[in-house]
Amino acid sequence: MHAATGDFSTFMPQIVTMYYRLIAKRIYLSFFLVALITLSNKLSAQDGKALFQSNCASCHSVFKQVTGPALRGVTGRVPDNKLLHAWIHNNATVLASGNKYFTDLFNQFSKTPMNTFPNLSDADIDAILKYIETTPPPSTTPTDGGGPGGKEPDNSFLYGILTIILAVIMLTMLQVNSNLKKLSDDKEGVPSQEPIPFYRNKAYITFVILILFVIGGYYLVQGAIGLGRNKDYQPEQPIFYSHKVHAGTNQISCLYCHGNALQSKHATVPALNVCMNCHAAINEYTGKEKLYRENGEEVNGTAEIQKLYSYTGYDPKAGKYTEPGKPVEWTKIHNLPDHVFFSHAQHTNAGKVQCQTCHGPIQEMNEVKQFADLSMGWCINCHRTTKVNFPDSLGNDGNKFYSIYEKFHKDIKAGDSITVEKIGGTECQKCHY
Ligand code: HEC
Ligand code: HEC
Ligand code: HEC
Ligand code: HEC
Ligand code: HEC
Ligand code: HEC
Repeated sequence: MHAATGDFSTFMPQIVTMYYRLIAKRIYLSFFLVALITLSNKLSAQDGKALFQSNCASCHSVFKQVTGPALRGVTGRVPDNKLLHAWIHNNATVLASGNKYFTDLFNQFSKTPMNTFPNLSDADIDAILKYIETTPPPSTTPTDGGGPGGKEPDNSFLYGILTIILAVIMLTMLQVNSNLKKLSDDKEGVPSQEPIPFYRNKAYITFVILILFVIGGYYLVQGAIGLGRNKDYQPEQPIFYSHKVHAGTNQISCLYCHGNALQSKHATVPALNVCMNCHAAINEYTGKEKLYRENGEEVNGTAEIQKLYSYTGYDPKAGKYTEPGKPVEWTKIHNLPDHVFFSHAQHTNAGKVQCQTCHGPIQEMNEVKQFADLSMGWCINCHRTTKVNFPDSLGNDGNKFYSIYEKFHKDIKAGDSITVEKIGGTECQKCHY
């Protein structure tokens, strides 16, 4: 009996040690969990943002009135979630039902119709609304490009602090662990070795190397994938030609200059004689709004029009061309790699996709900035979610080419619709030579 109790008390410190080891393991685990949560949080926040940018940003900004109203606070203005979903799905039916709030809004926006989005699921709309209501306001620097929406909420700072706290706790626990072991060894009379300091502890070193390897690997792969991608690229052009002045203030149609976008692969940049259709007469800039470059430098519009004359060899006083012209070397902004086939006609004409869906609010840019990253994921995601414009399926002419798709046609009659993916929009050879 006596002997048994004695045995037990000598085991006691070892049990305590094991217990602390267990806790240390738990802490390792929670460390990984925090990292995981950080990642998944980023993913879901991006979802709503991506949907907003590809579907709504051409007319809406979260904080600014553009073509449509600023959307922040809309869930407060329209507390009926079902009605709000119905509006976003198909605003025409809501207007037809004679809802007072939306009819007033419609009139207030001089009866500008909003697009319908029959293809967005309720979950998609919830994600968009969540993005609208949670994205923080953009920092208001004057040189802000005026891009739609704010930045996504950034919790990395919080997670960073949490990680450091957990790491400190982990180190303390390890220290306590080794101290306890030493104590128990002393009690048992086992000659104890000097405890190994943590920076020479093999488990600790392996752990740090592993973490560095994972983080380093993540950034290496991201960097490698991003090579050759130029989202937000905004070069300075030889003439300060402002899309805001032309397509925005003066409402010149995109197709006046980029008409090839409807018939061919390339939208192309117009020749200078297109400019001269107007600028033979318009020889100075008298617009109310002053023009600024991205870096805040003021631009003299009249001097920029003079540059146009020196390129074309036009003498505005004599009213005729006196010298041979030379082309402007515009810097090309959007550039897909050579192994990708992309046709504008297929998208703008057959698919009826708006220029702004892919190029952003060009009519608000003084200097063009690349809006989409032009990654493969960007193409594929849109093909996965965009419904094909079949004849009559959305109440318009649609693309007659697809009228041979009998089966799909029946599906549509049954109230279903078809994504681009289903007609082969994610098959490799459709986009790659
Ligand atoms: C073609 C331009 C256009 C697009 C694209 C567009 N909207 Fe609109 N939206 C408008 C206009 C204009 C109004 C104001 C009412 C009207 O004139 O129909 C509006 C109104 C709204 C309202 C009501 C706002 C309020 O203050 O009550 C909501 C909500 C809304 N839009 C959400 C969306 C969402 C979500 C998307 C993307 C899925 C979207 N809109 C895409 C033009 C657009
Ligand atoms: C009066 C002529 C004119 C009109 C109208 C016009 N553009 Fe342009 N666009 C140009 C010129 C010139 C350039 C080349 C200089 C530059 O990049 O700013 C250009 C460049 C672009 C580019 C970048 C091309 C590249 O290098 O990748 C895009 C995208 C674009 N325009 C889209 C549009 C859209 C969308 C509209 C309608 C909202 C529009 N443009 C209206 C003349 C015009
Ligand atoms: C489905 C997305 C999409 C739509 C819609 C779209 N573009 Fe583009 N645009 C692109 C891509 C991708 C490129 C780069 C093409 C390349 O490098 O071969 C581009 C390039 C351009 C260029 C540079 C010159 C060229 O042809 O490569 C201009 C200008 C342009 N687009 C104007 C327009 C205009 C104007 C519209 C509307 C009528 C429009 N785009 C609609 C995706 C789109
Ligand atoms: C359909 C008529 C039209 C065409 C085509 C046109 N412009 Fe203009 N442009 C205007 C008008 C209108 C203004 C503004 C004049 C004002 O407000 O005093 C303007 C202003 C300008 C300015 C001064 C403001 C600024 O944007 O820096 C420049 C430079 C200019 N145009 C260059 C061009 C070039 C280059 C082209 C050909 C790619 C072109 N324009 C094609 C009508 C046109
Ligand atoms: C904003 C949405 C959107 C984006 C972004 C987009 N596409 Fe498309 N794409 C469409 C639609 C809609 C169609 C169907 C057009 C039709 O009705 O024929 C289509 C059709 C195509 C087709 C023909 C598919 C077939 O089966 O005939 C090709 C090829 C294609 N896209 C390539 C691209 C490439 C390459 C990119 C990226 C650089 C891209 N698309 C980005 C919407 C998009
Ligand atoms: C809707 C159009 C589209 C389809 C379908 C498509 N791709 Fe791509 N792919 C692209 C674009 C655009 C890029 C260029 C991306 C970039 O520059 O980052 C690309 C790039 C690539 C690259 C180069 C690596 C990279 O990420 O840049 C590979 C490899 C590739 N695609 C393989 C495939 C395979 C395999 C398939 C079939 C499963 C496929 N693609 C289907 C549009 C498409």
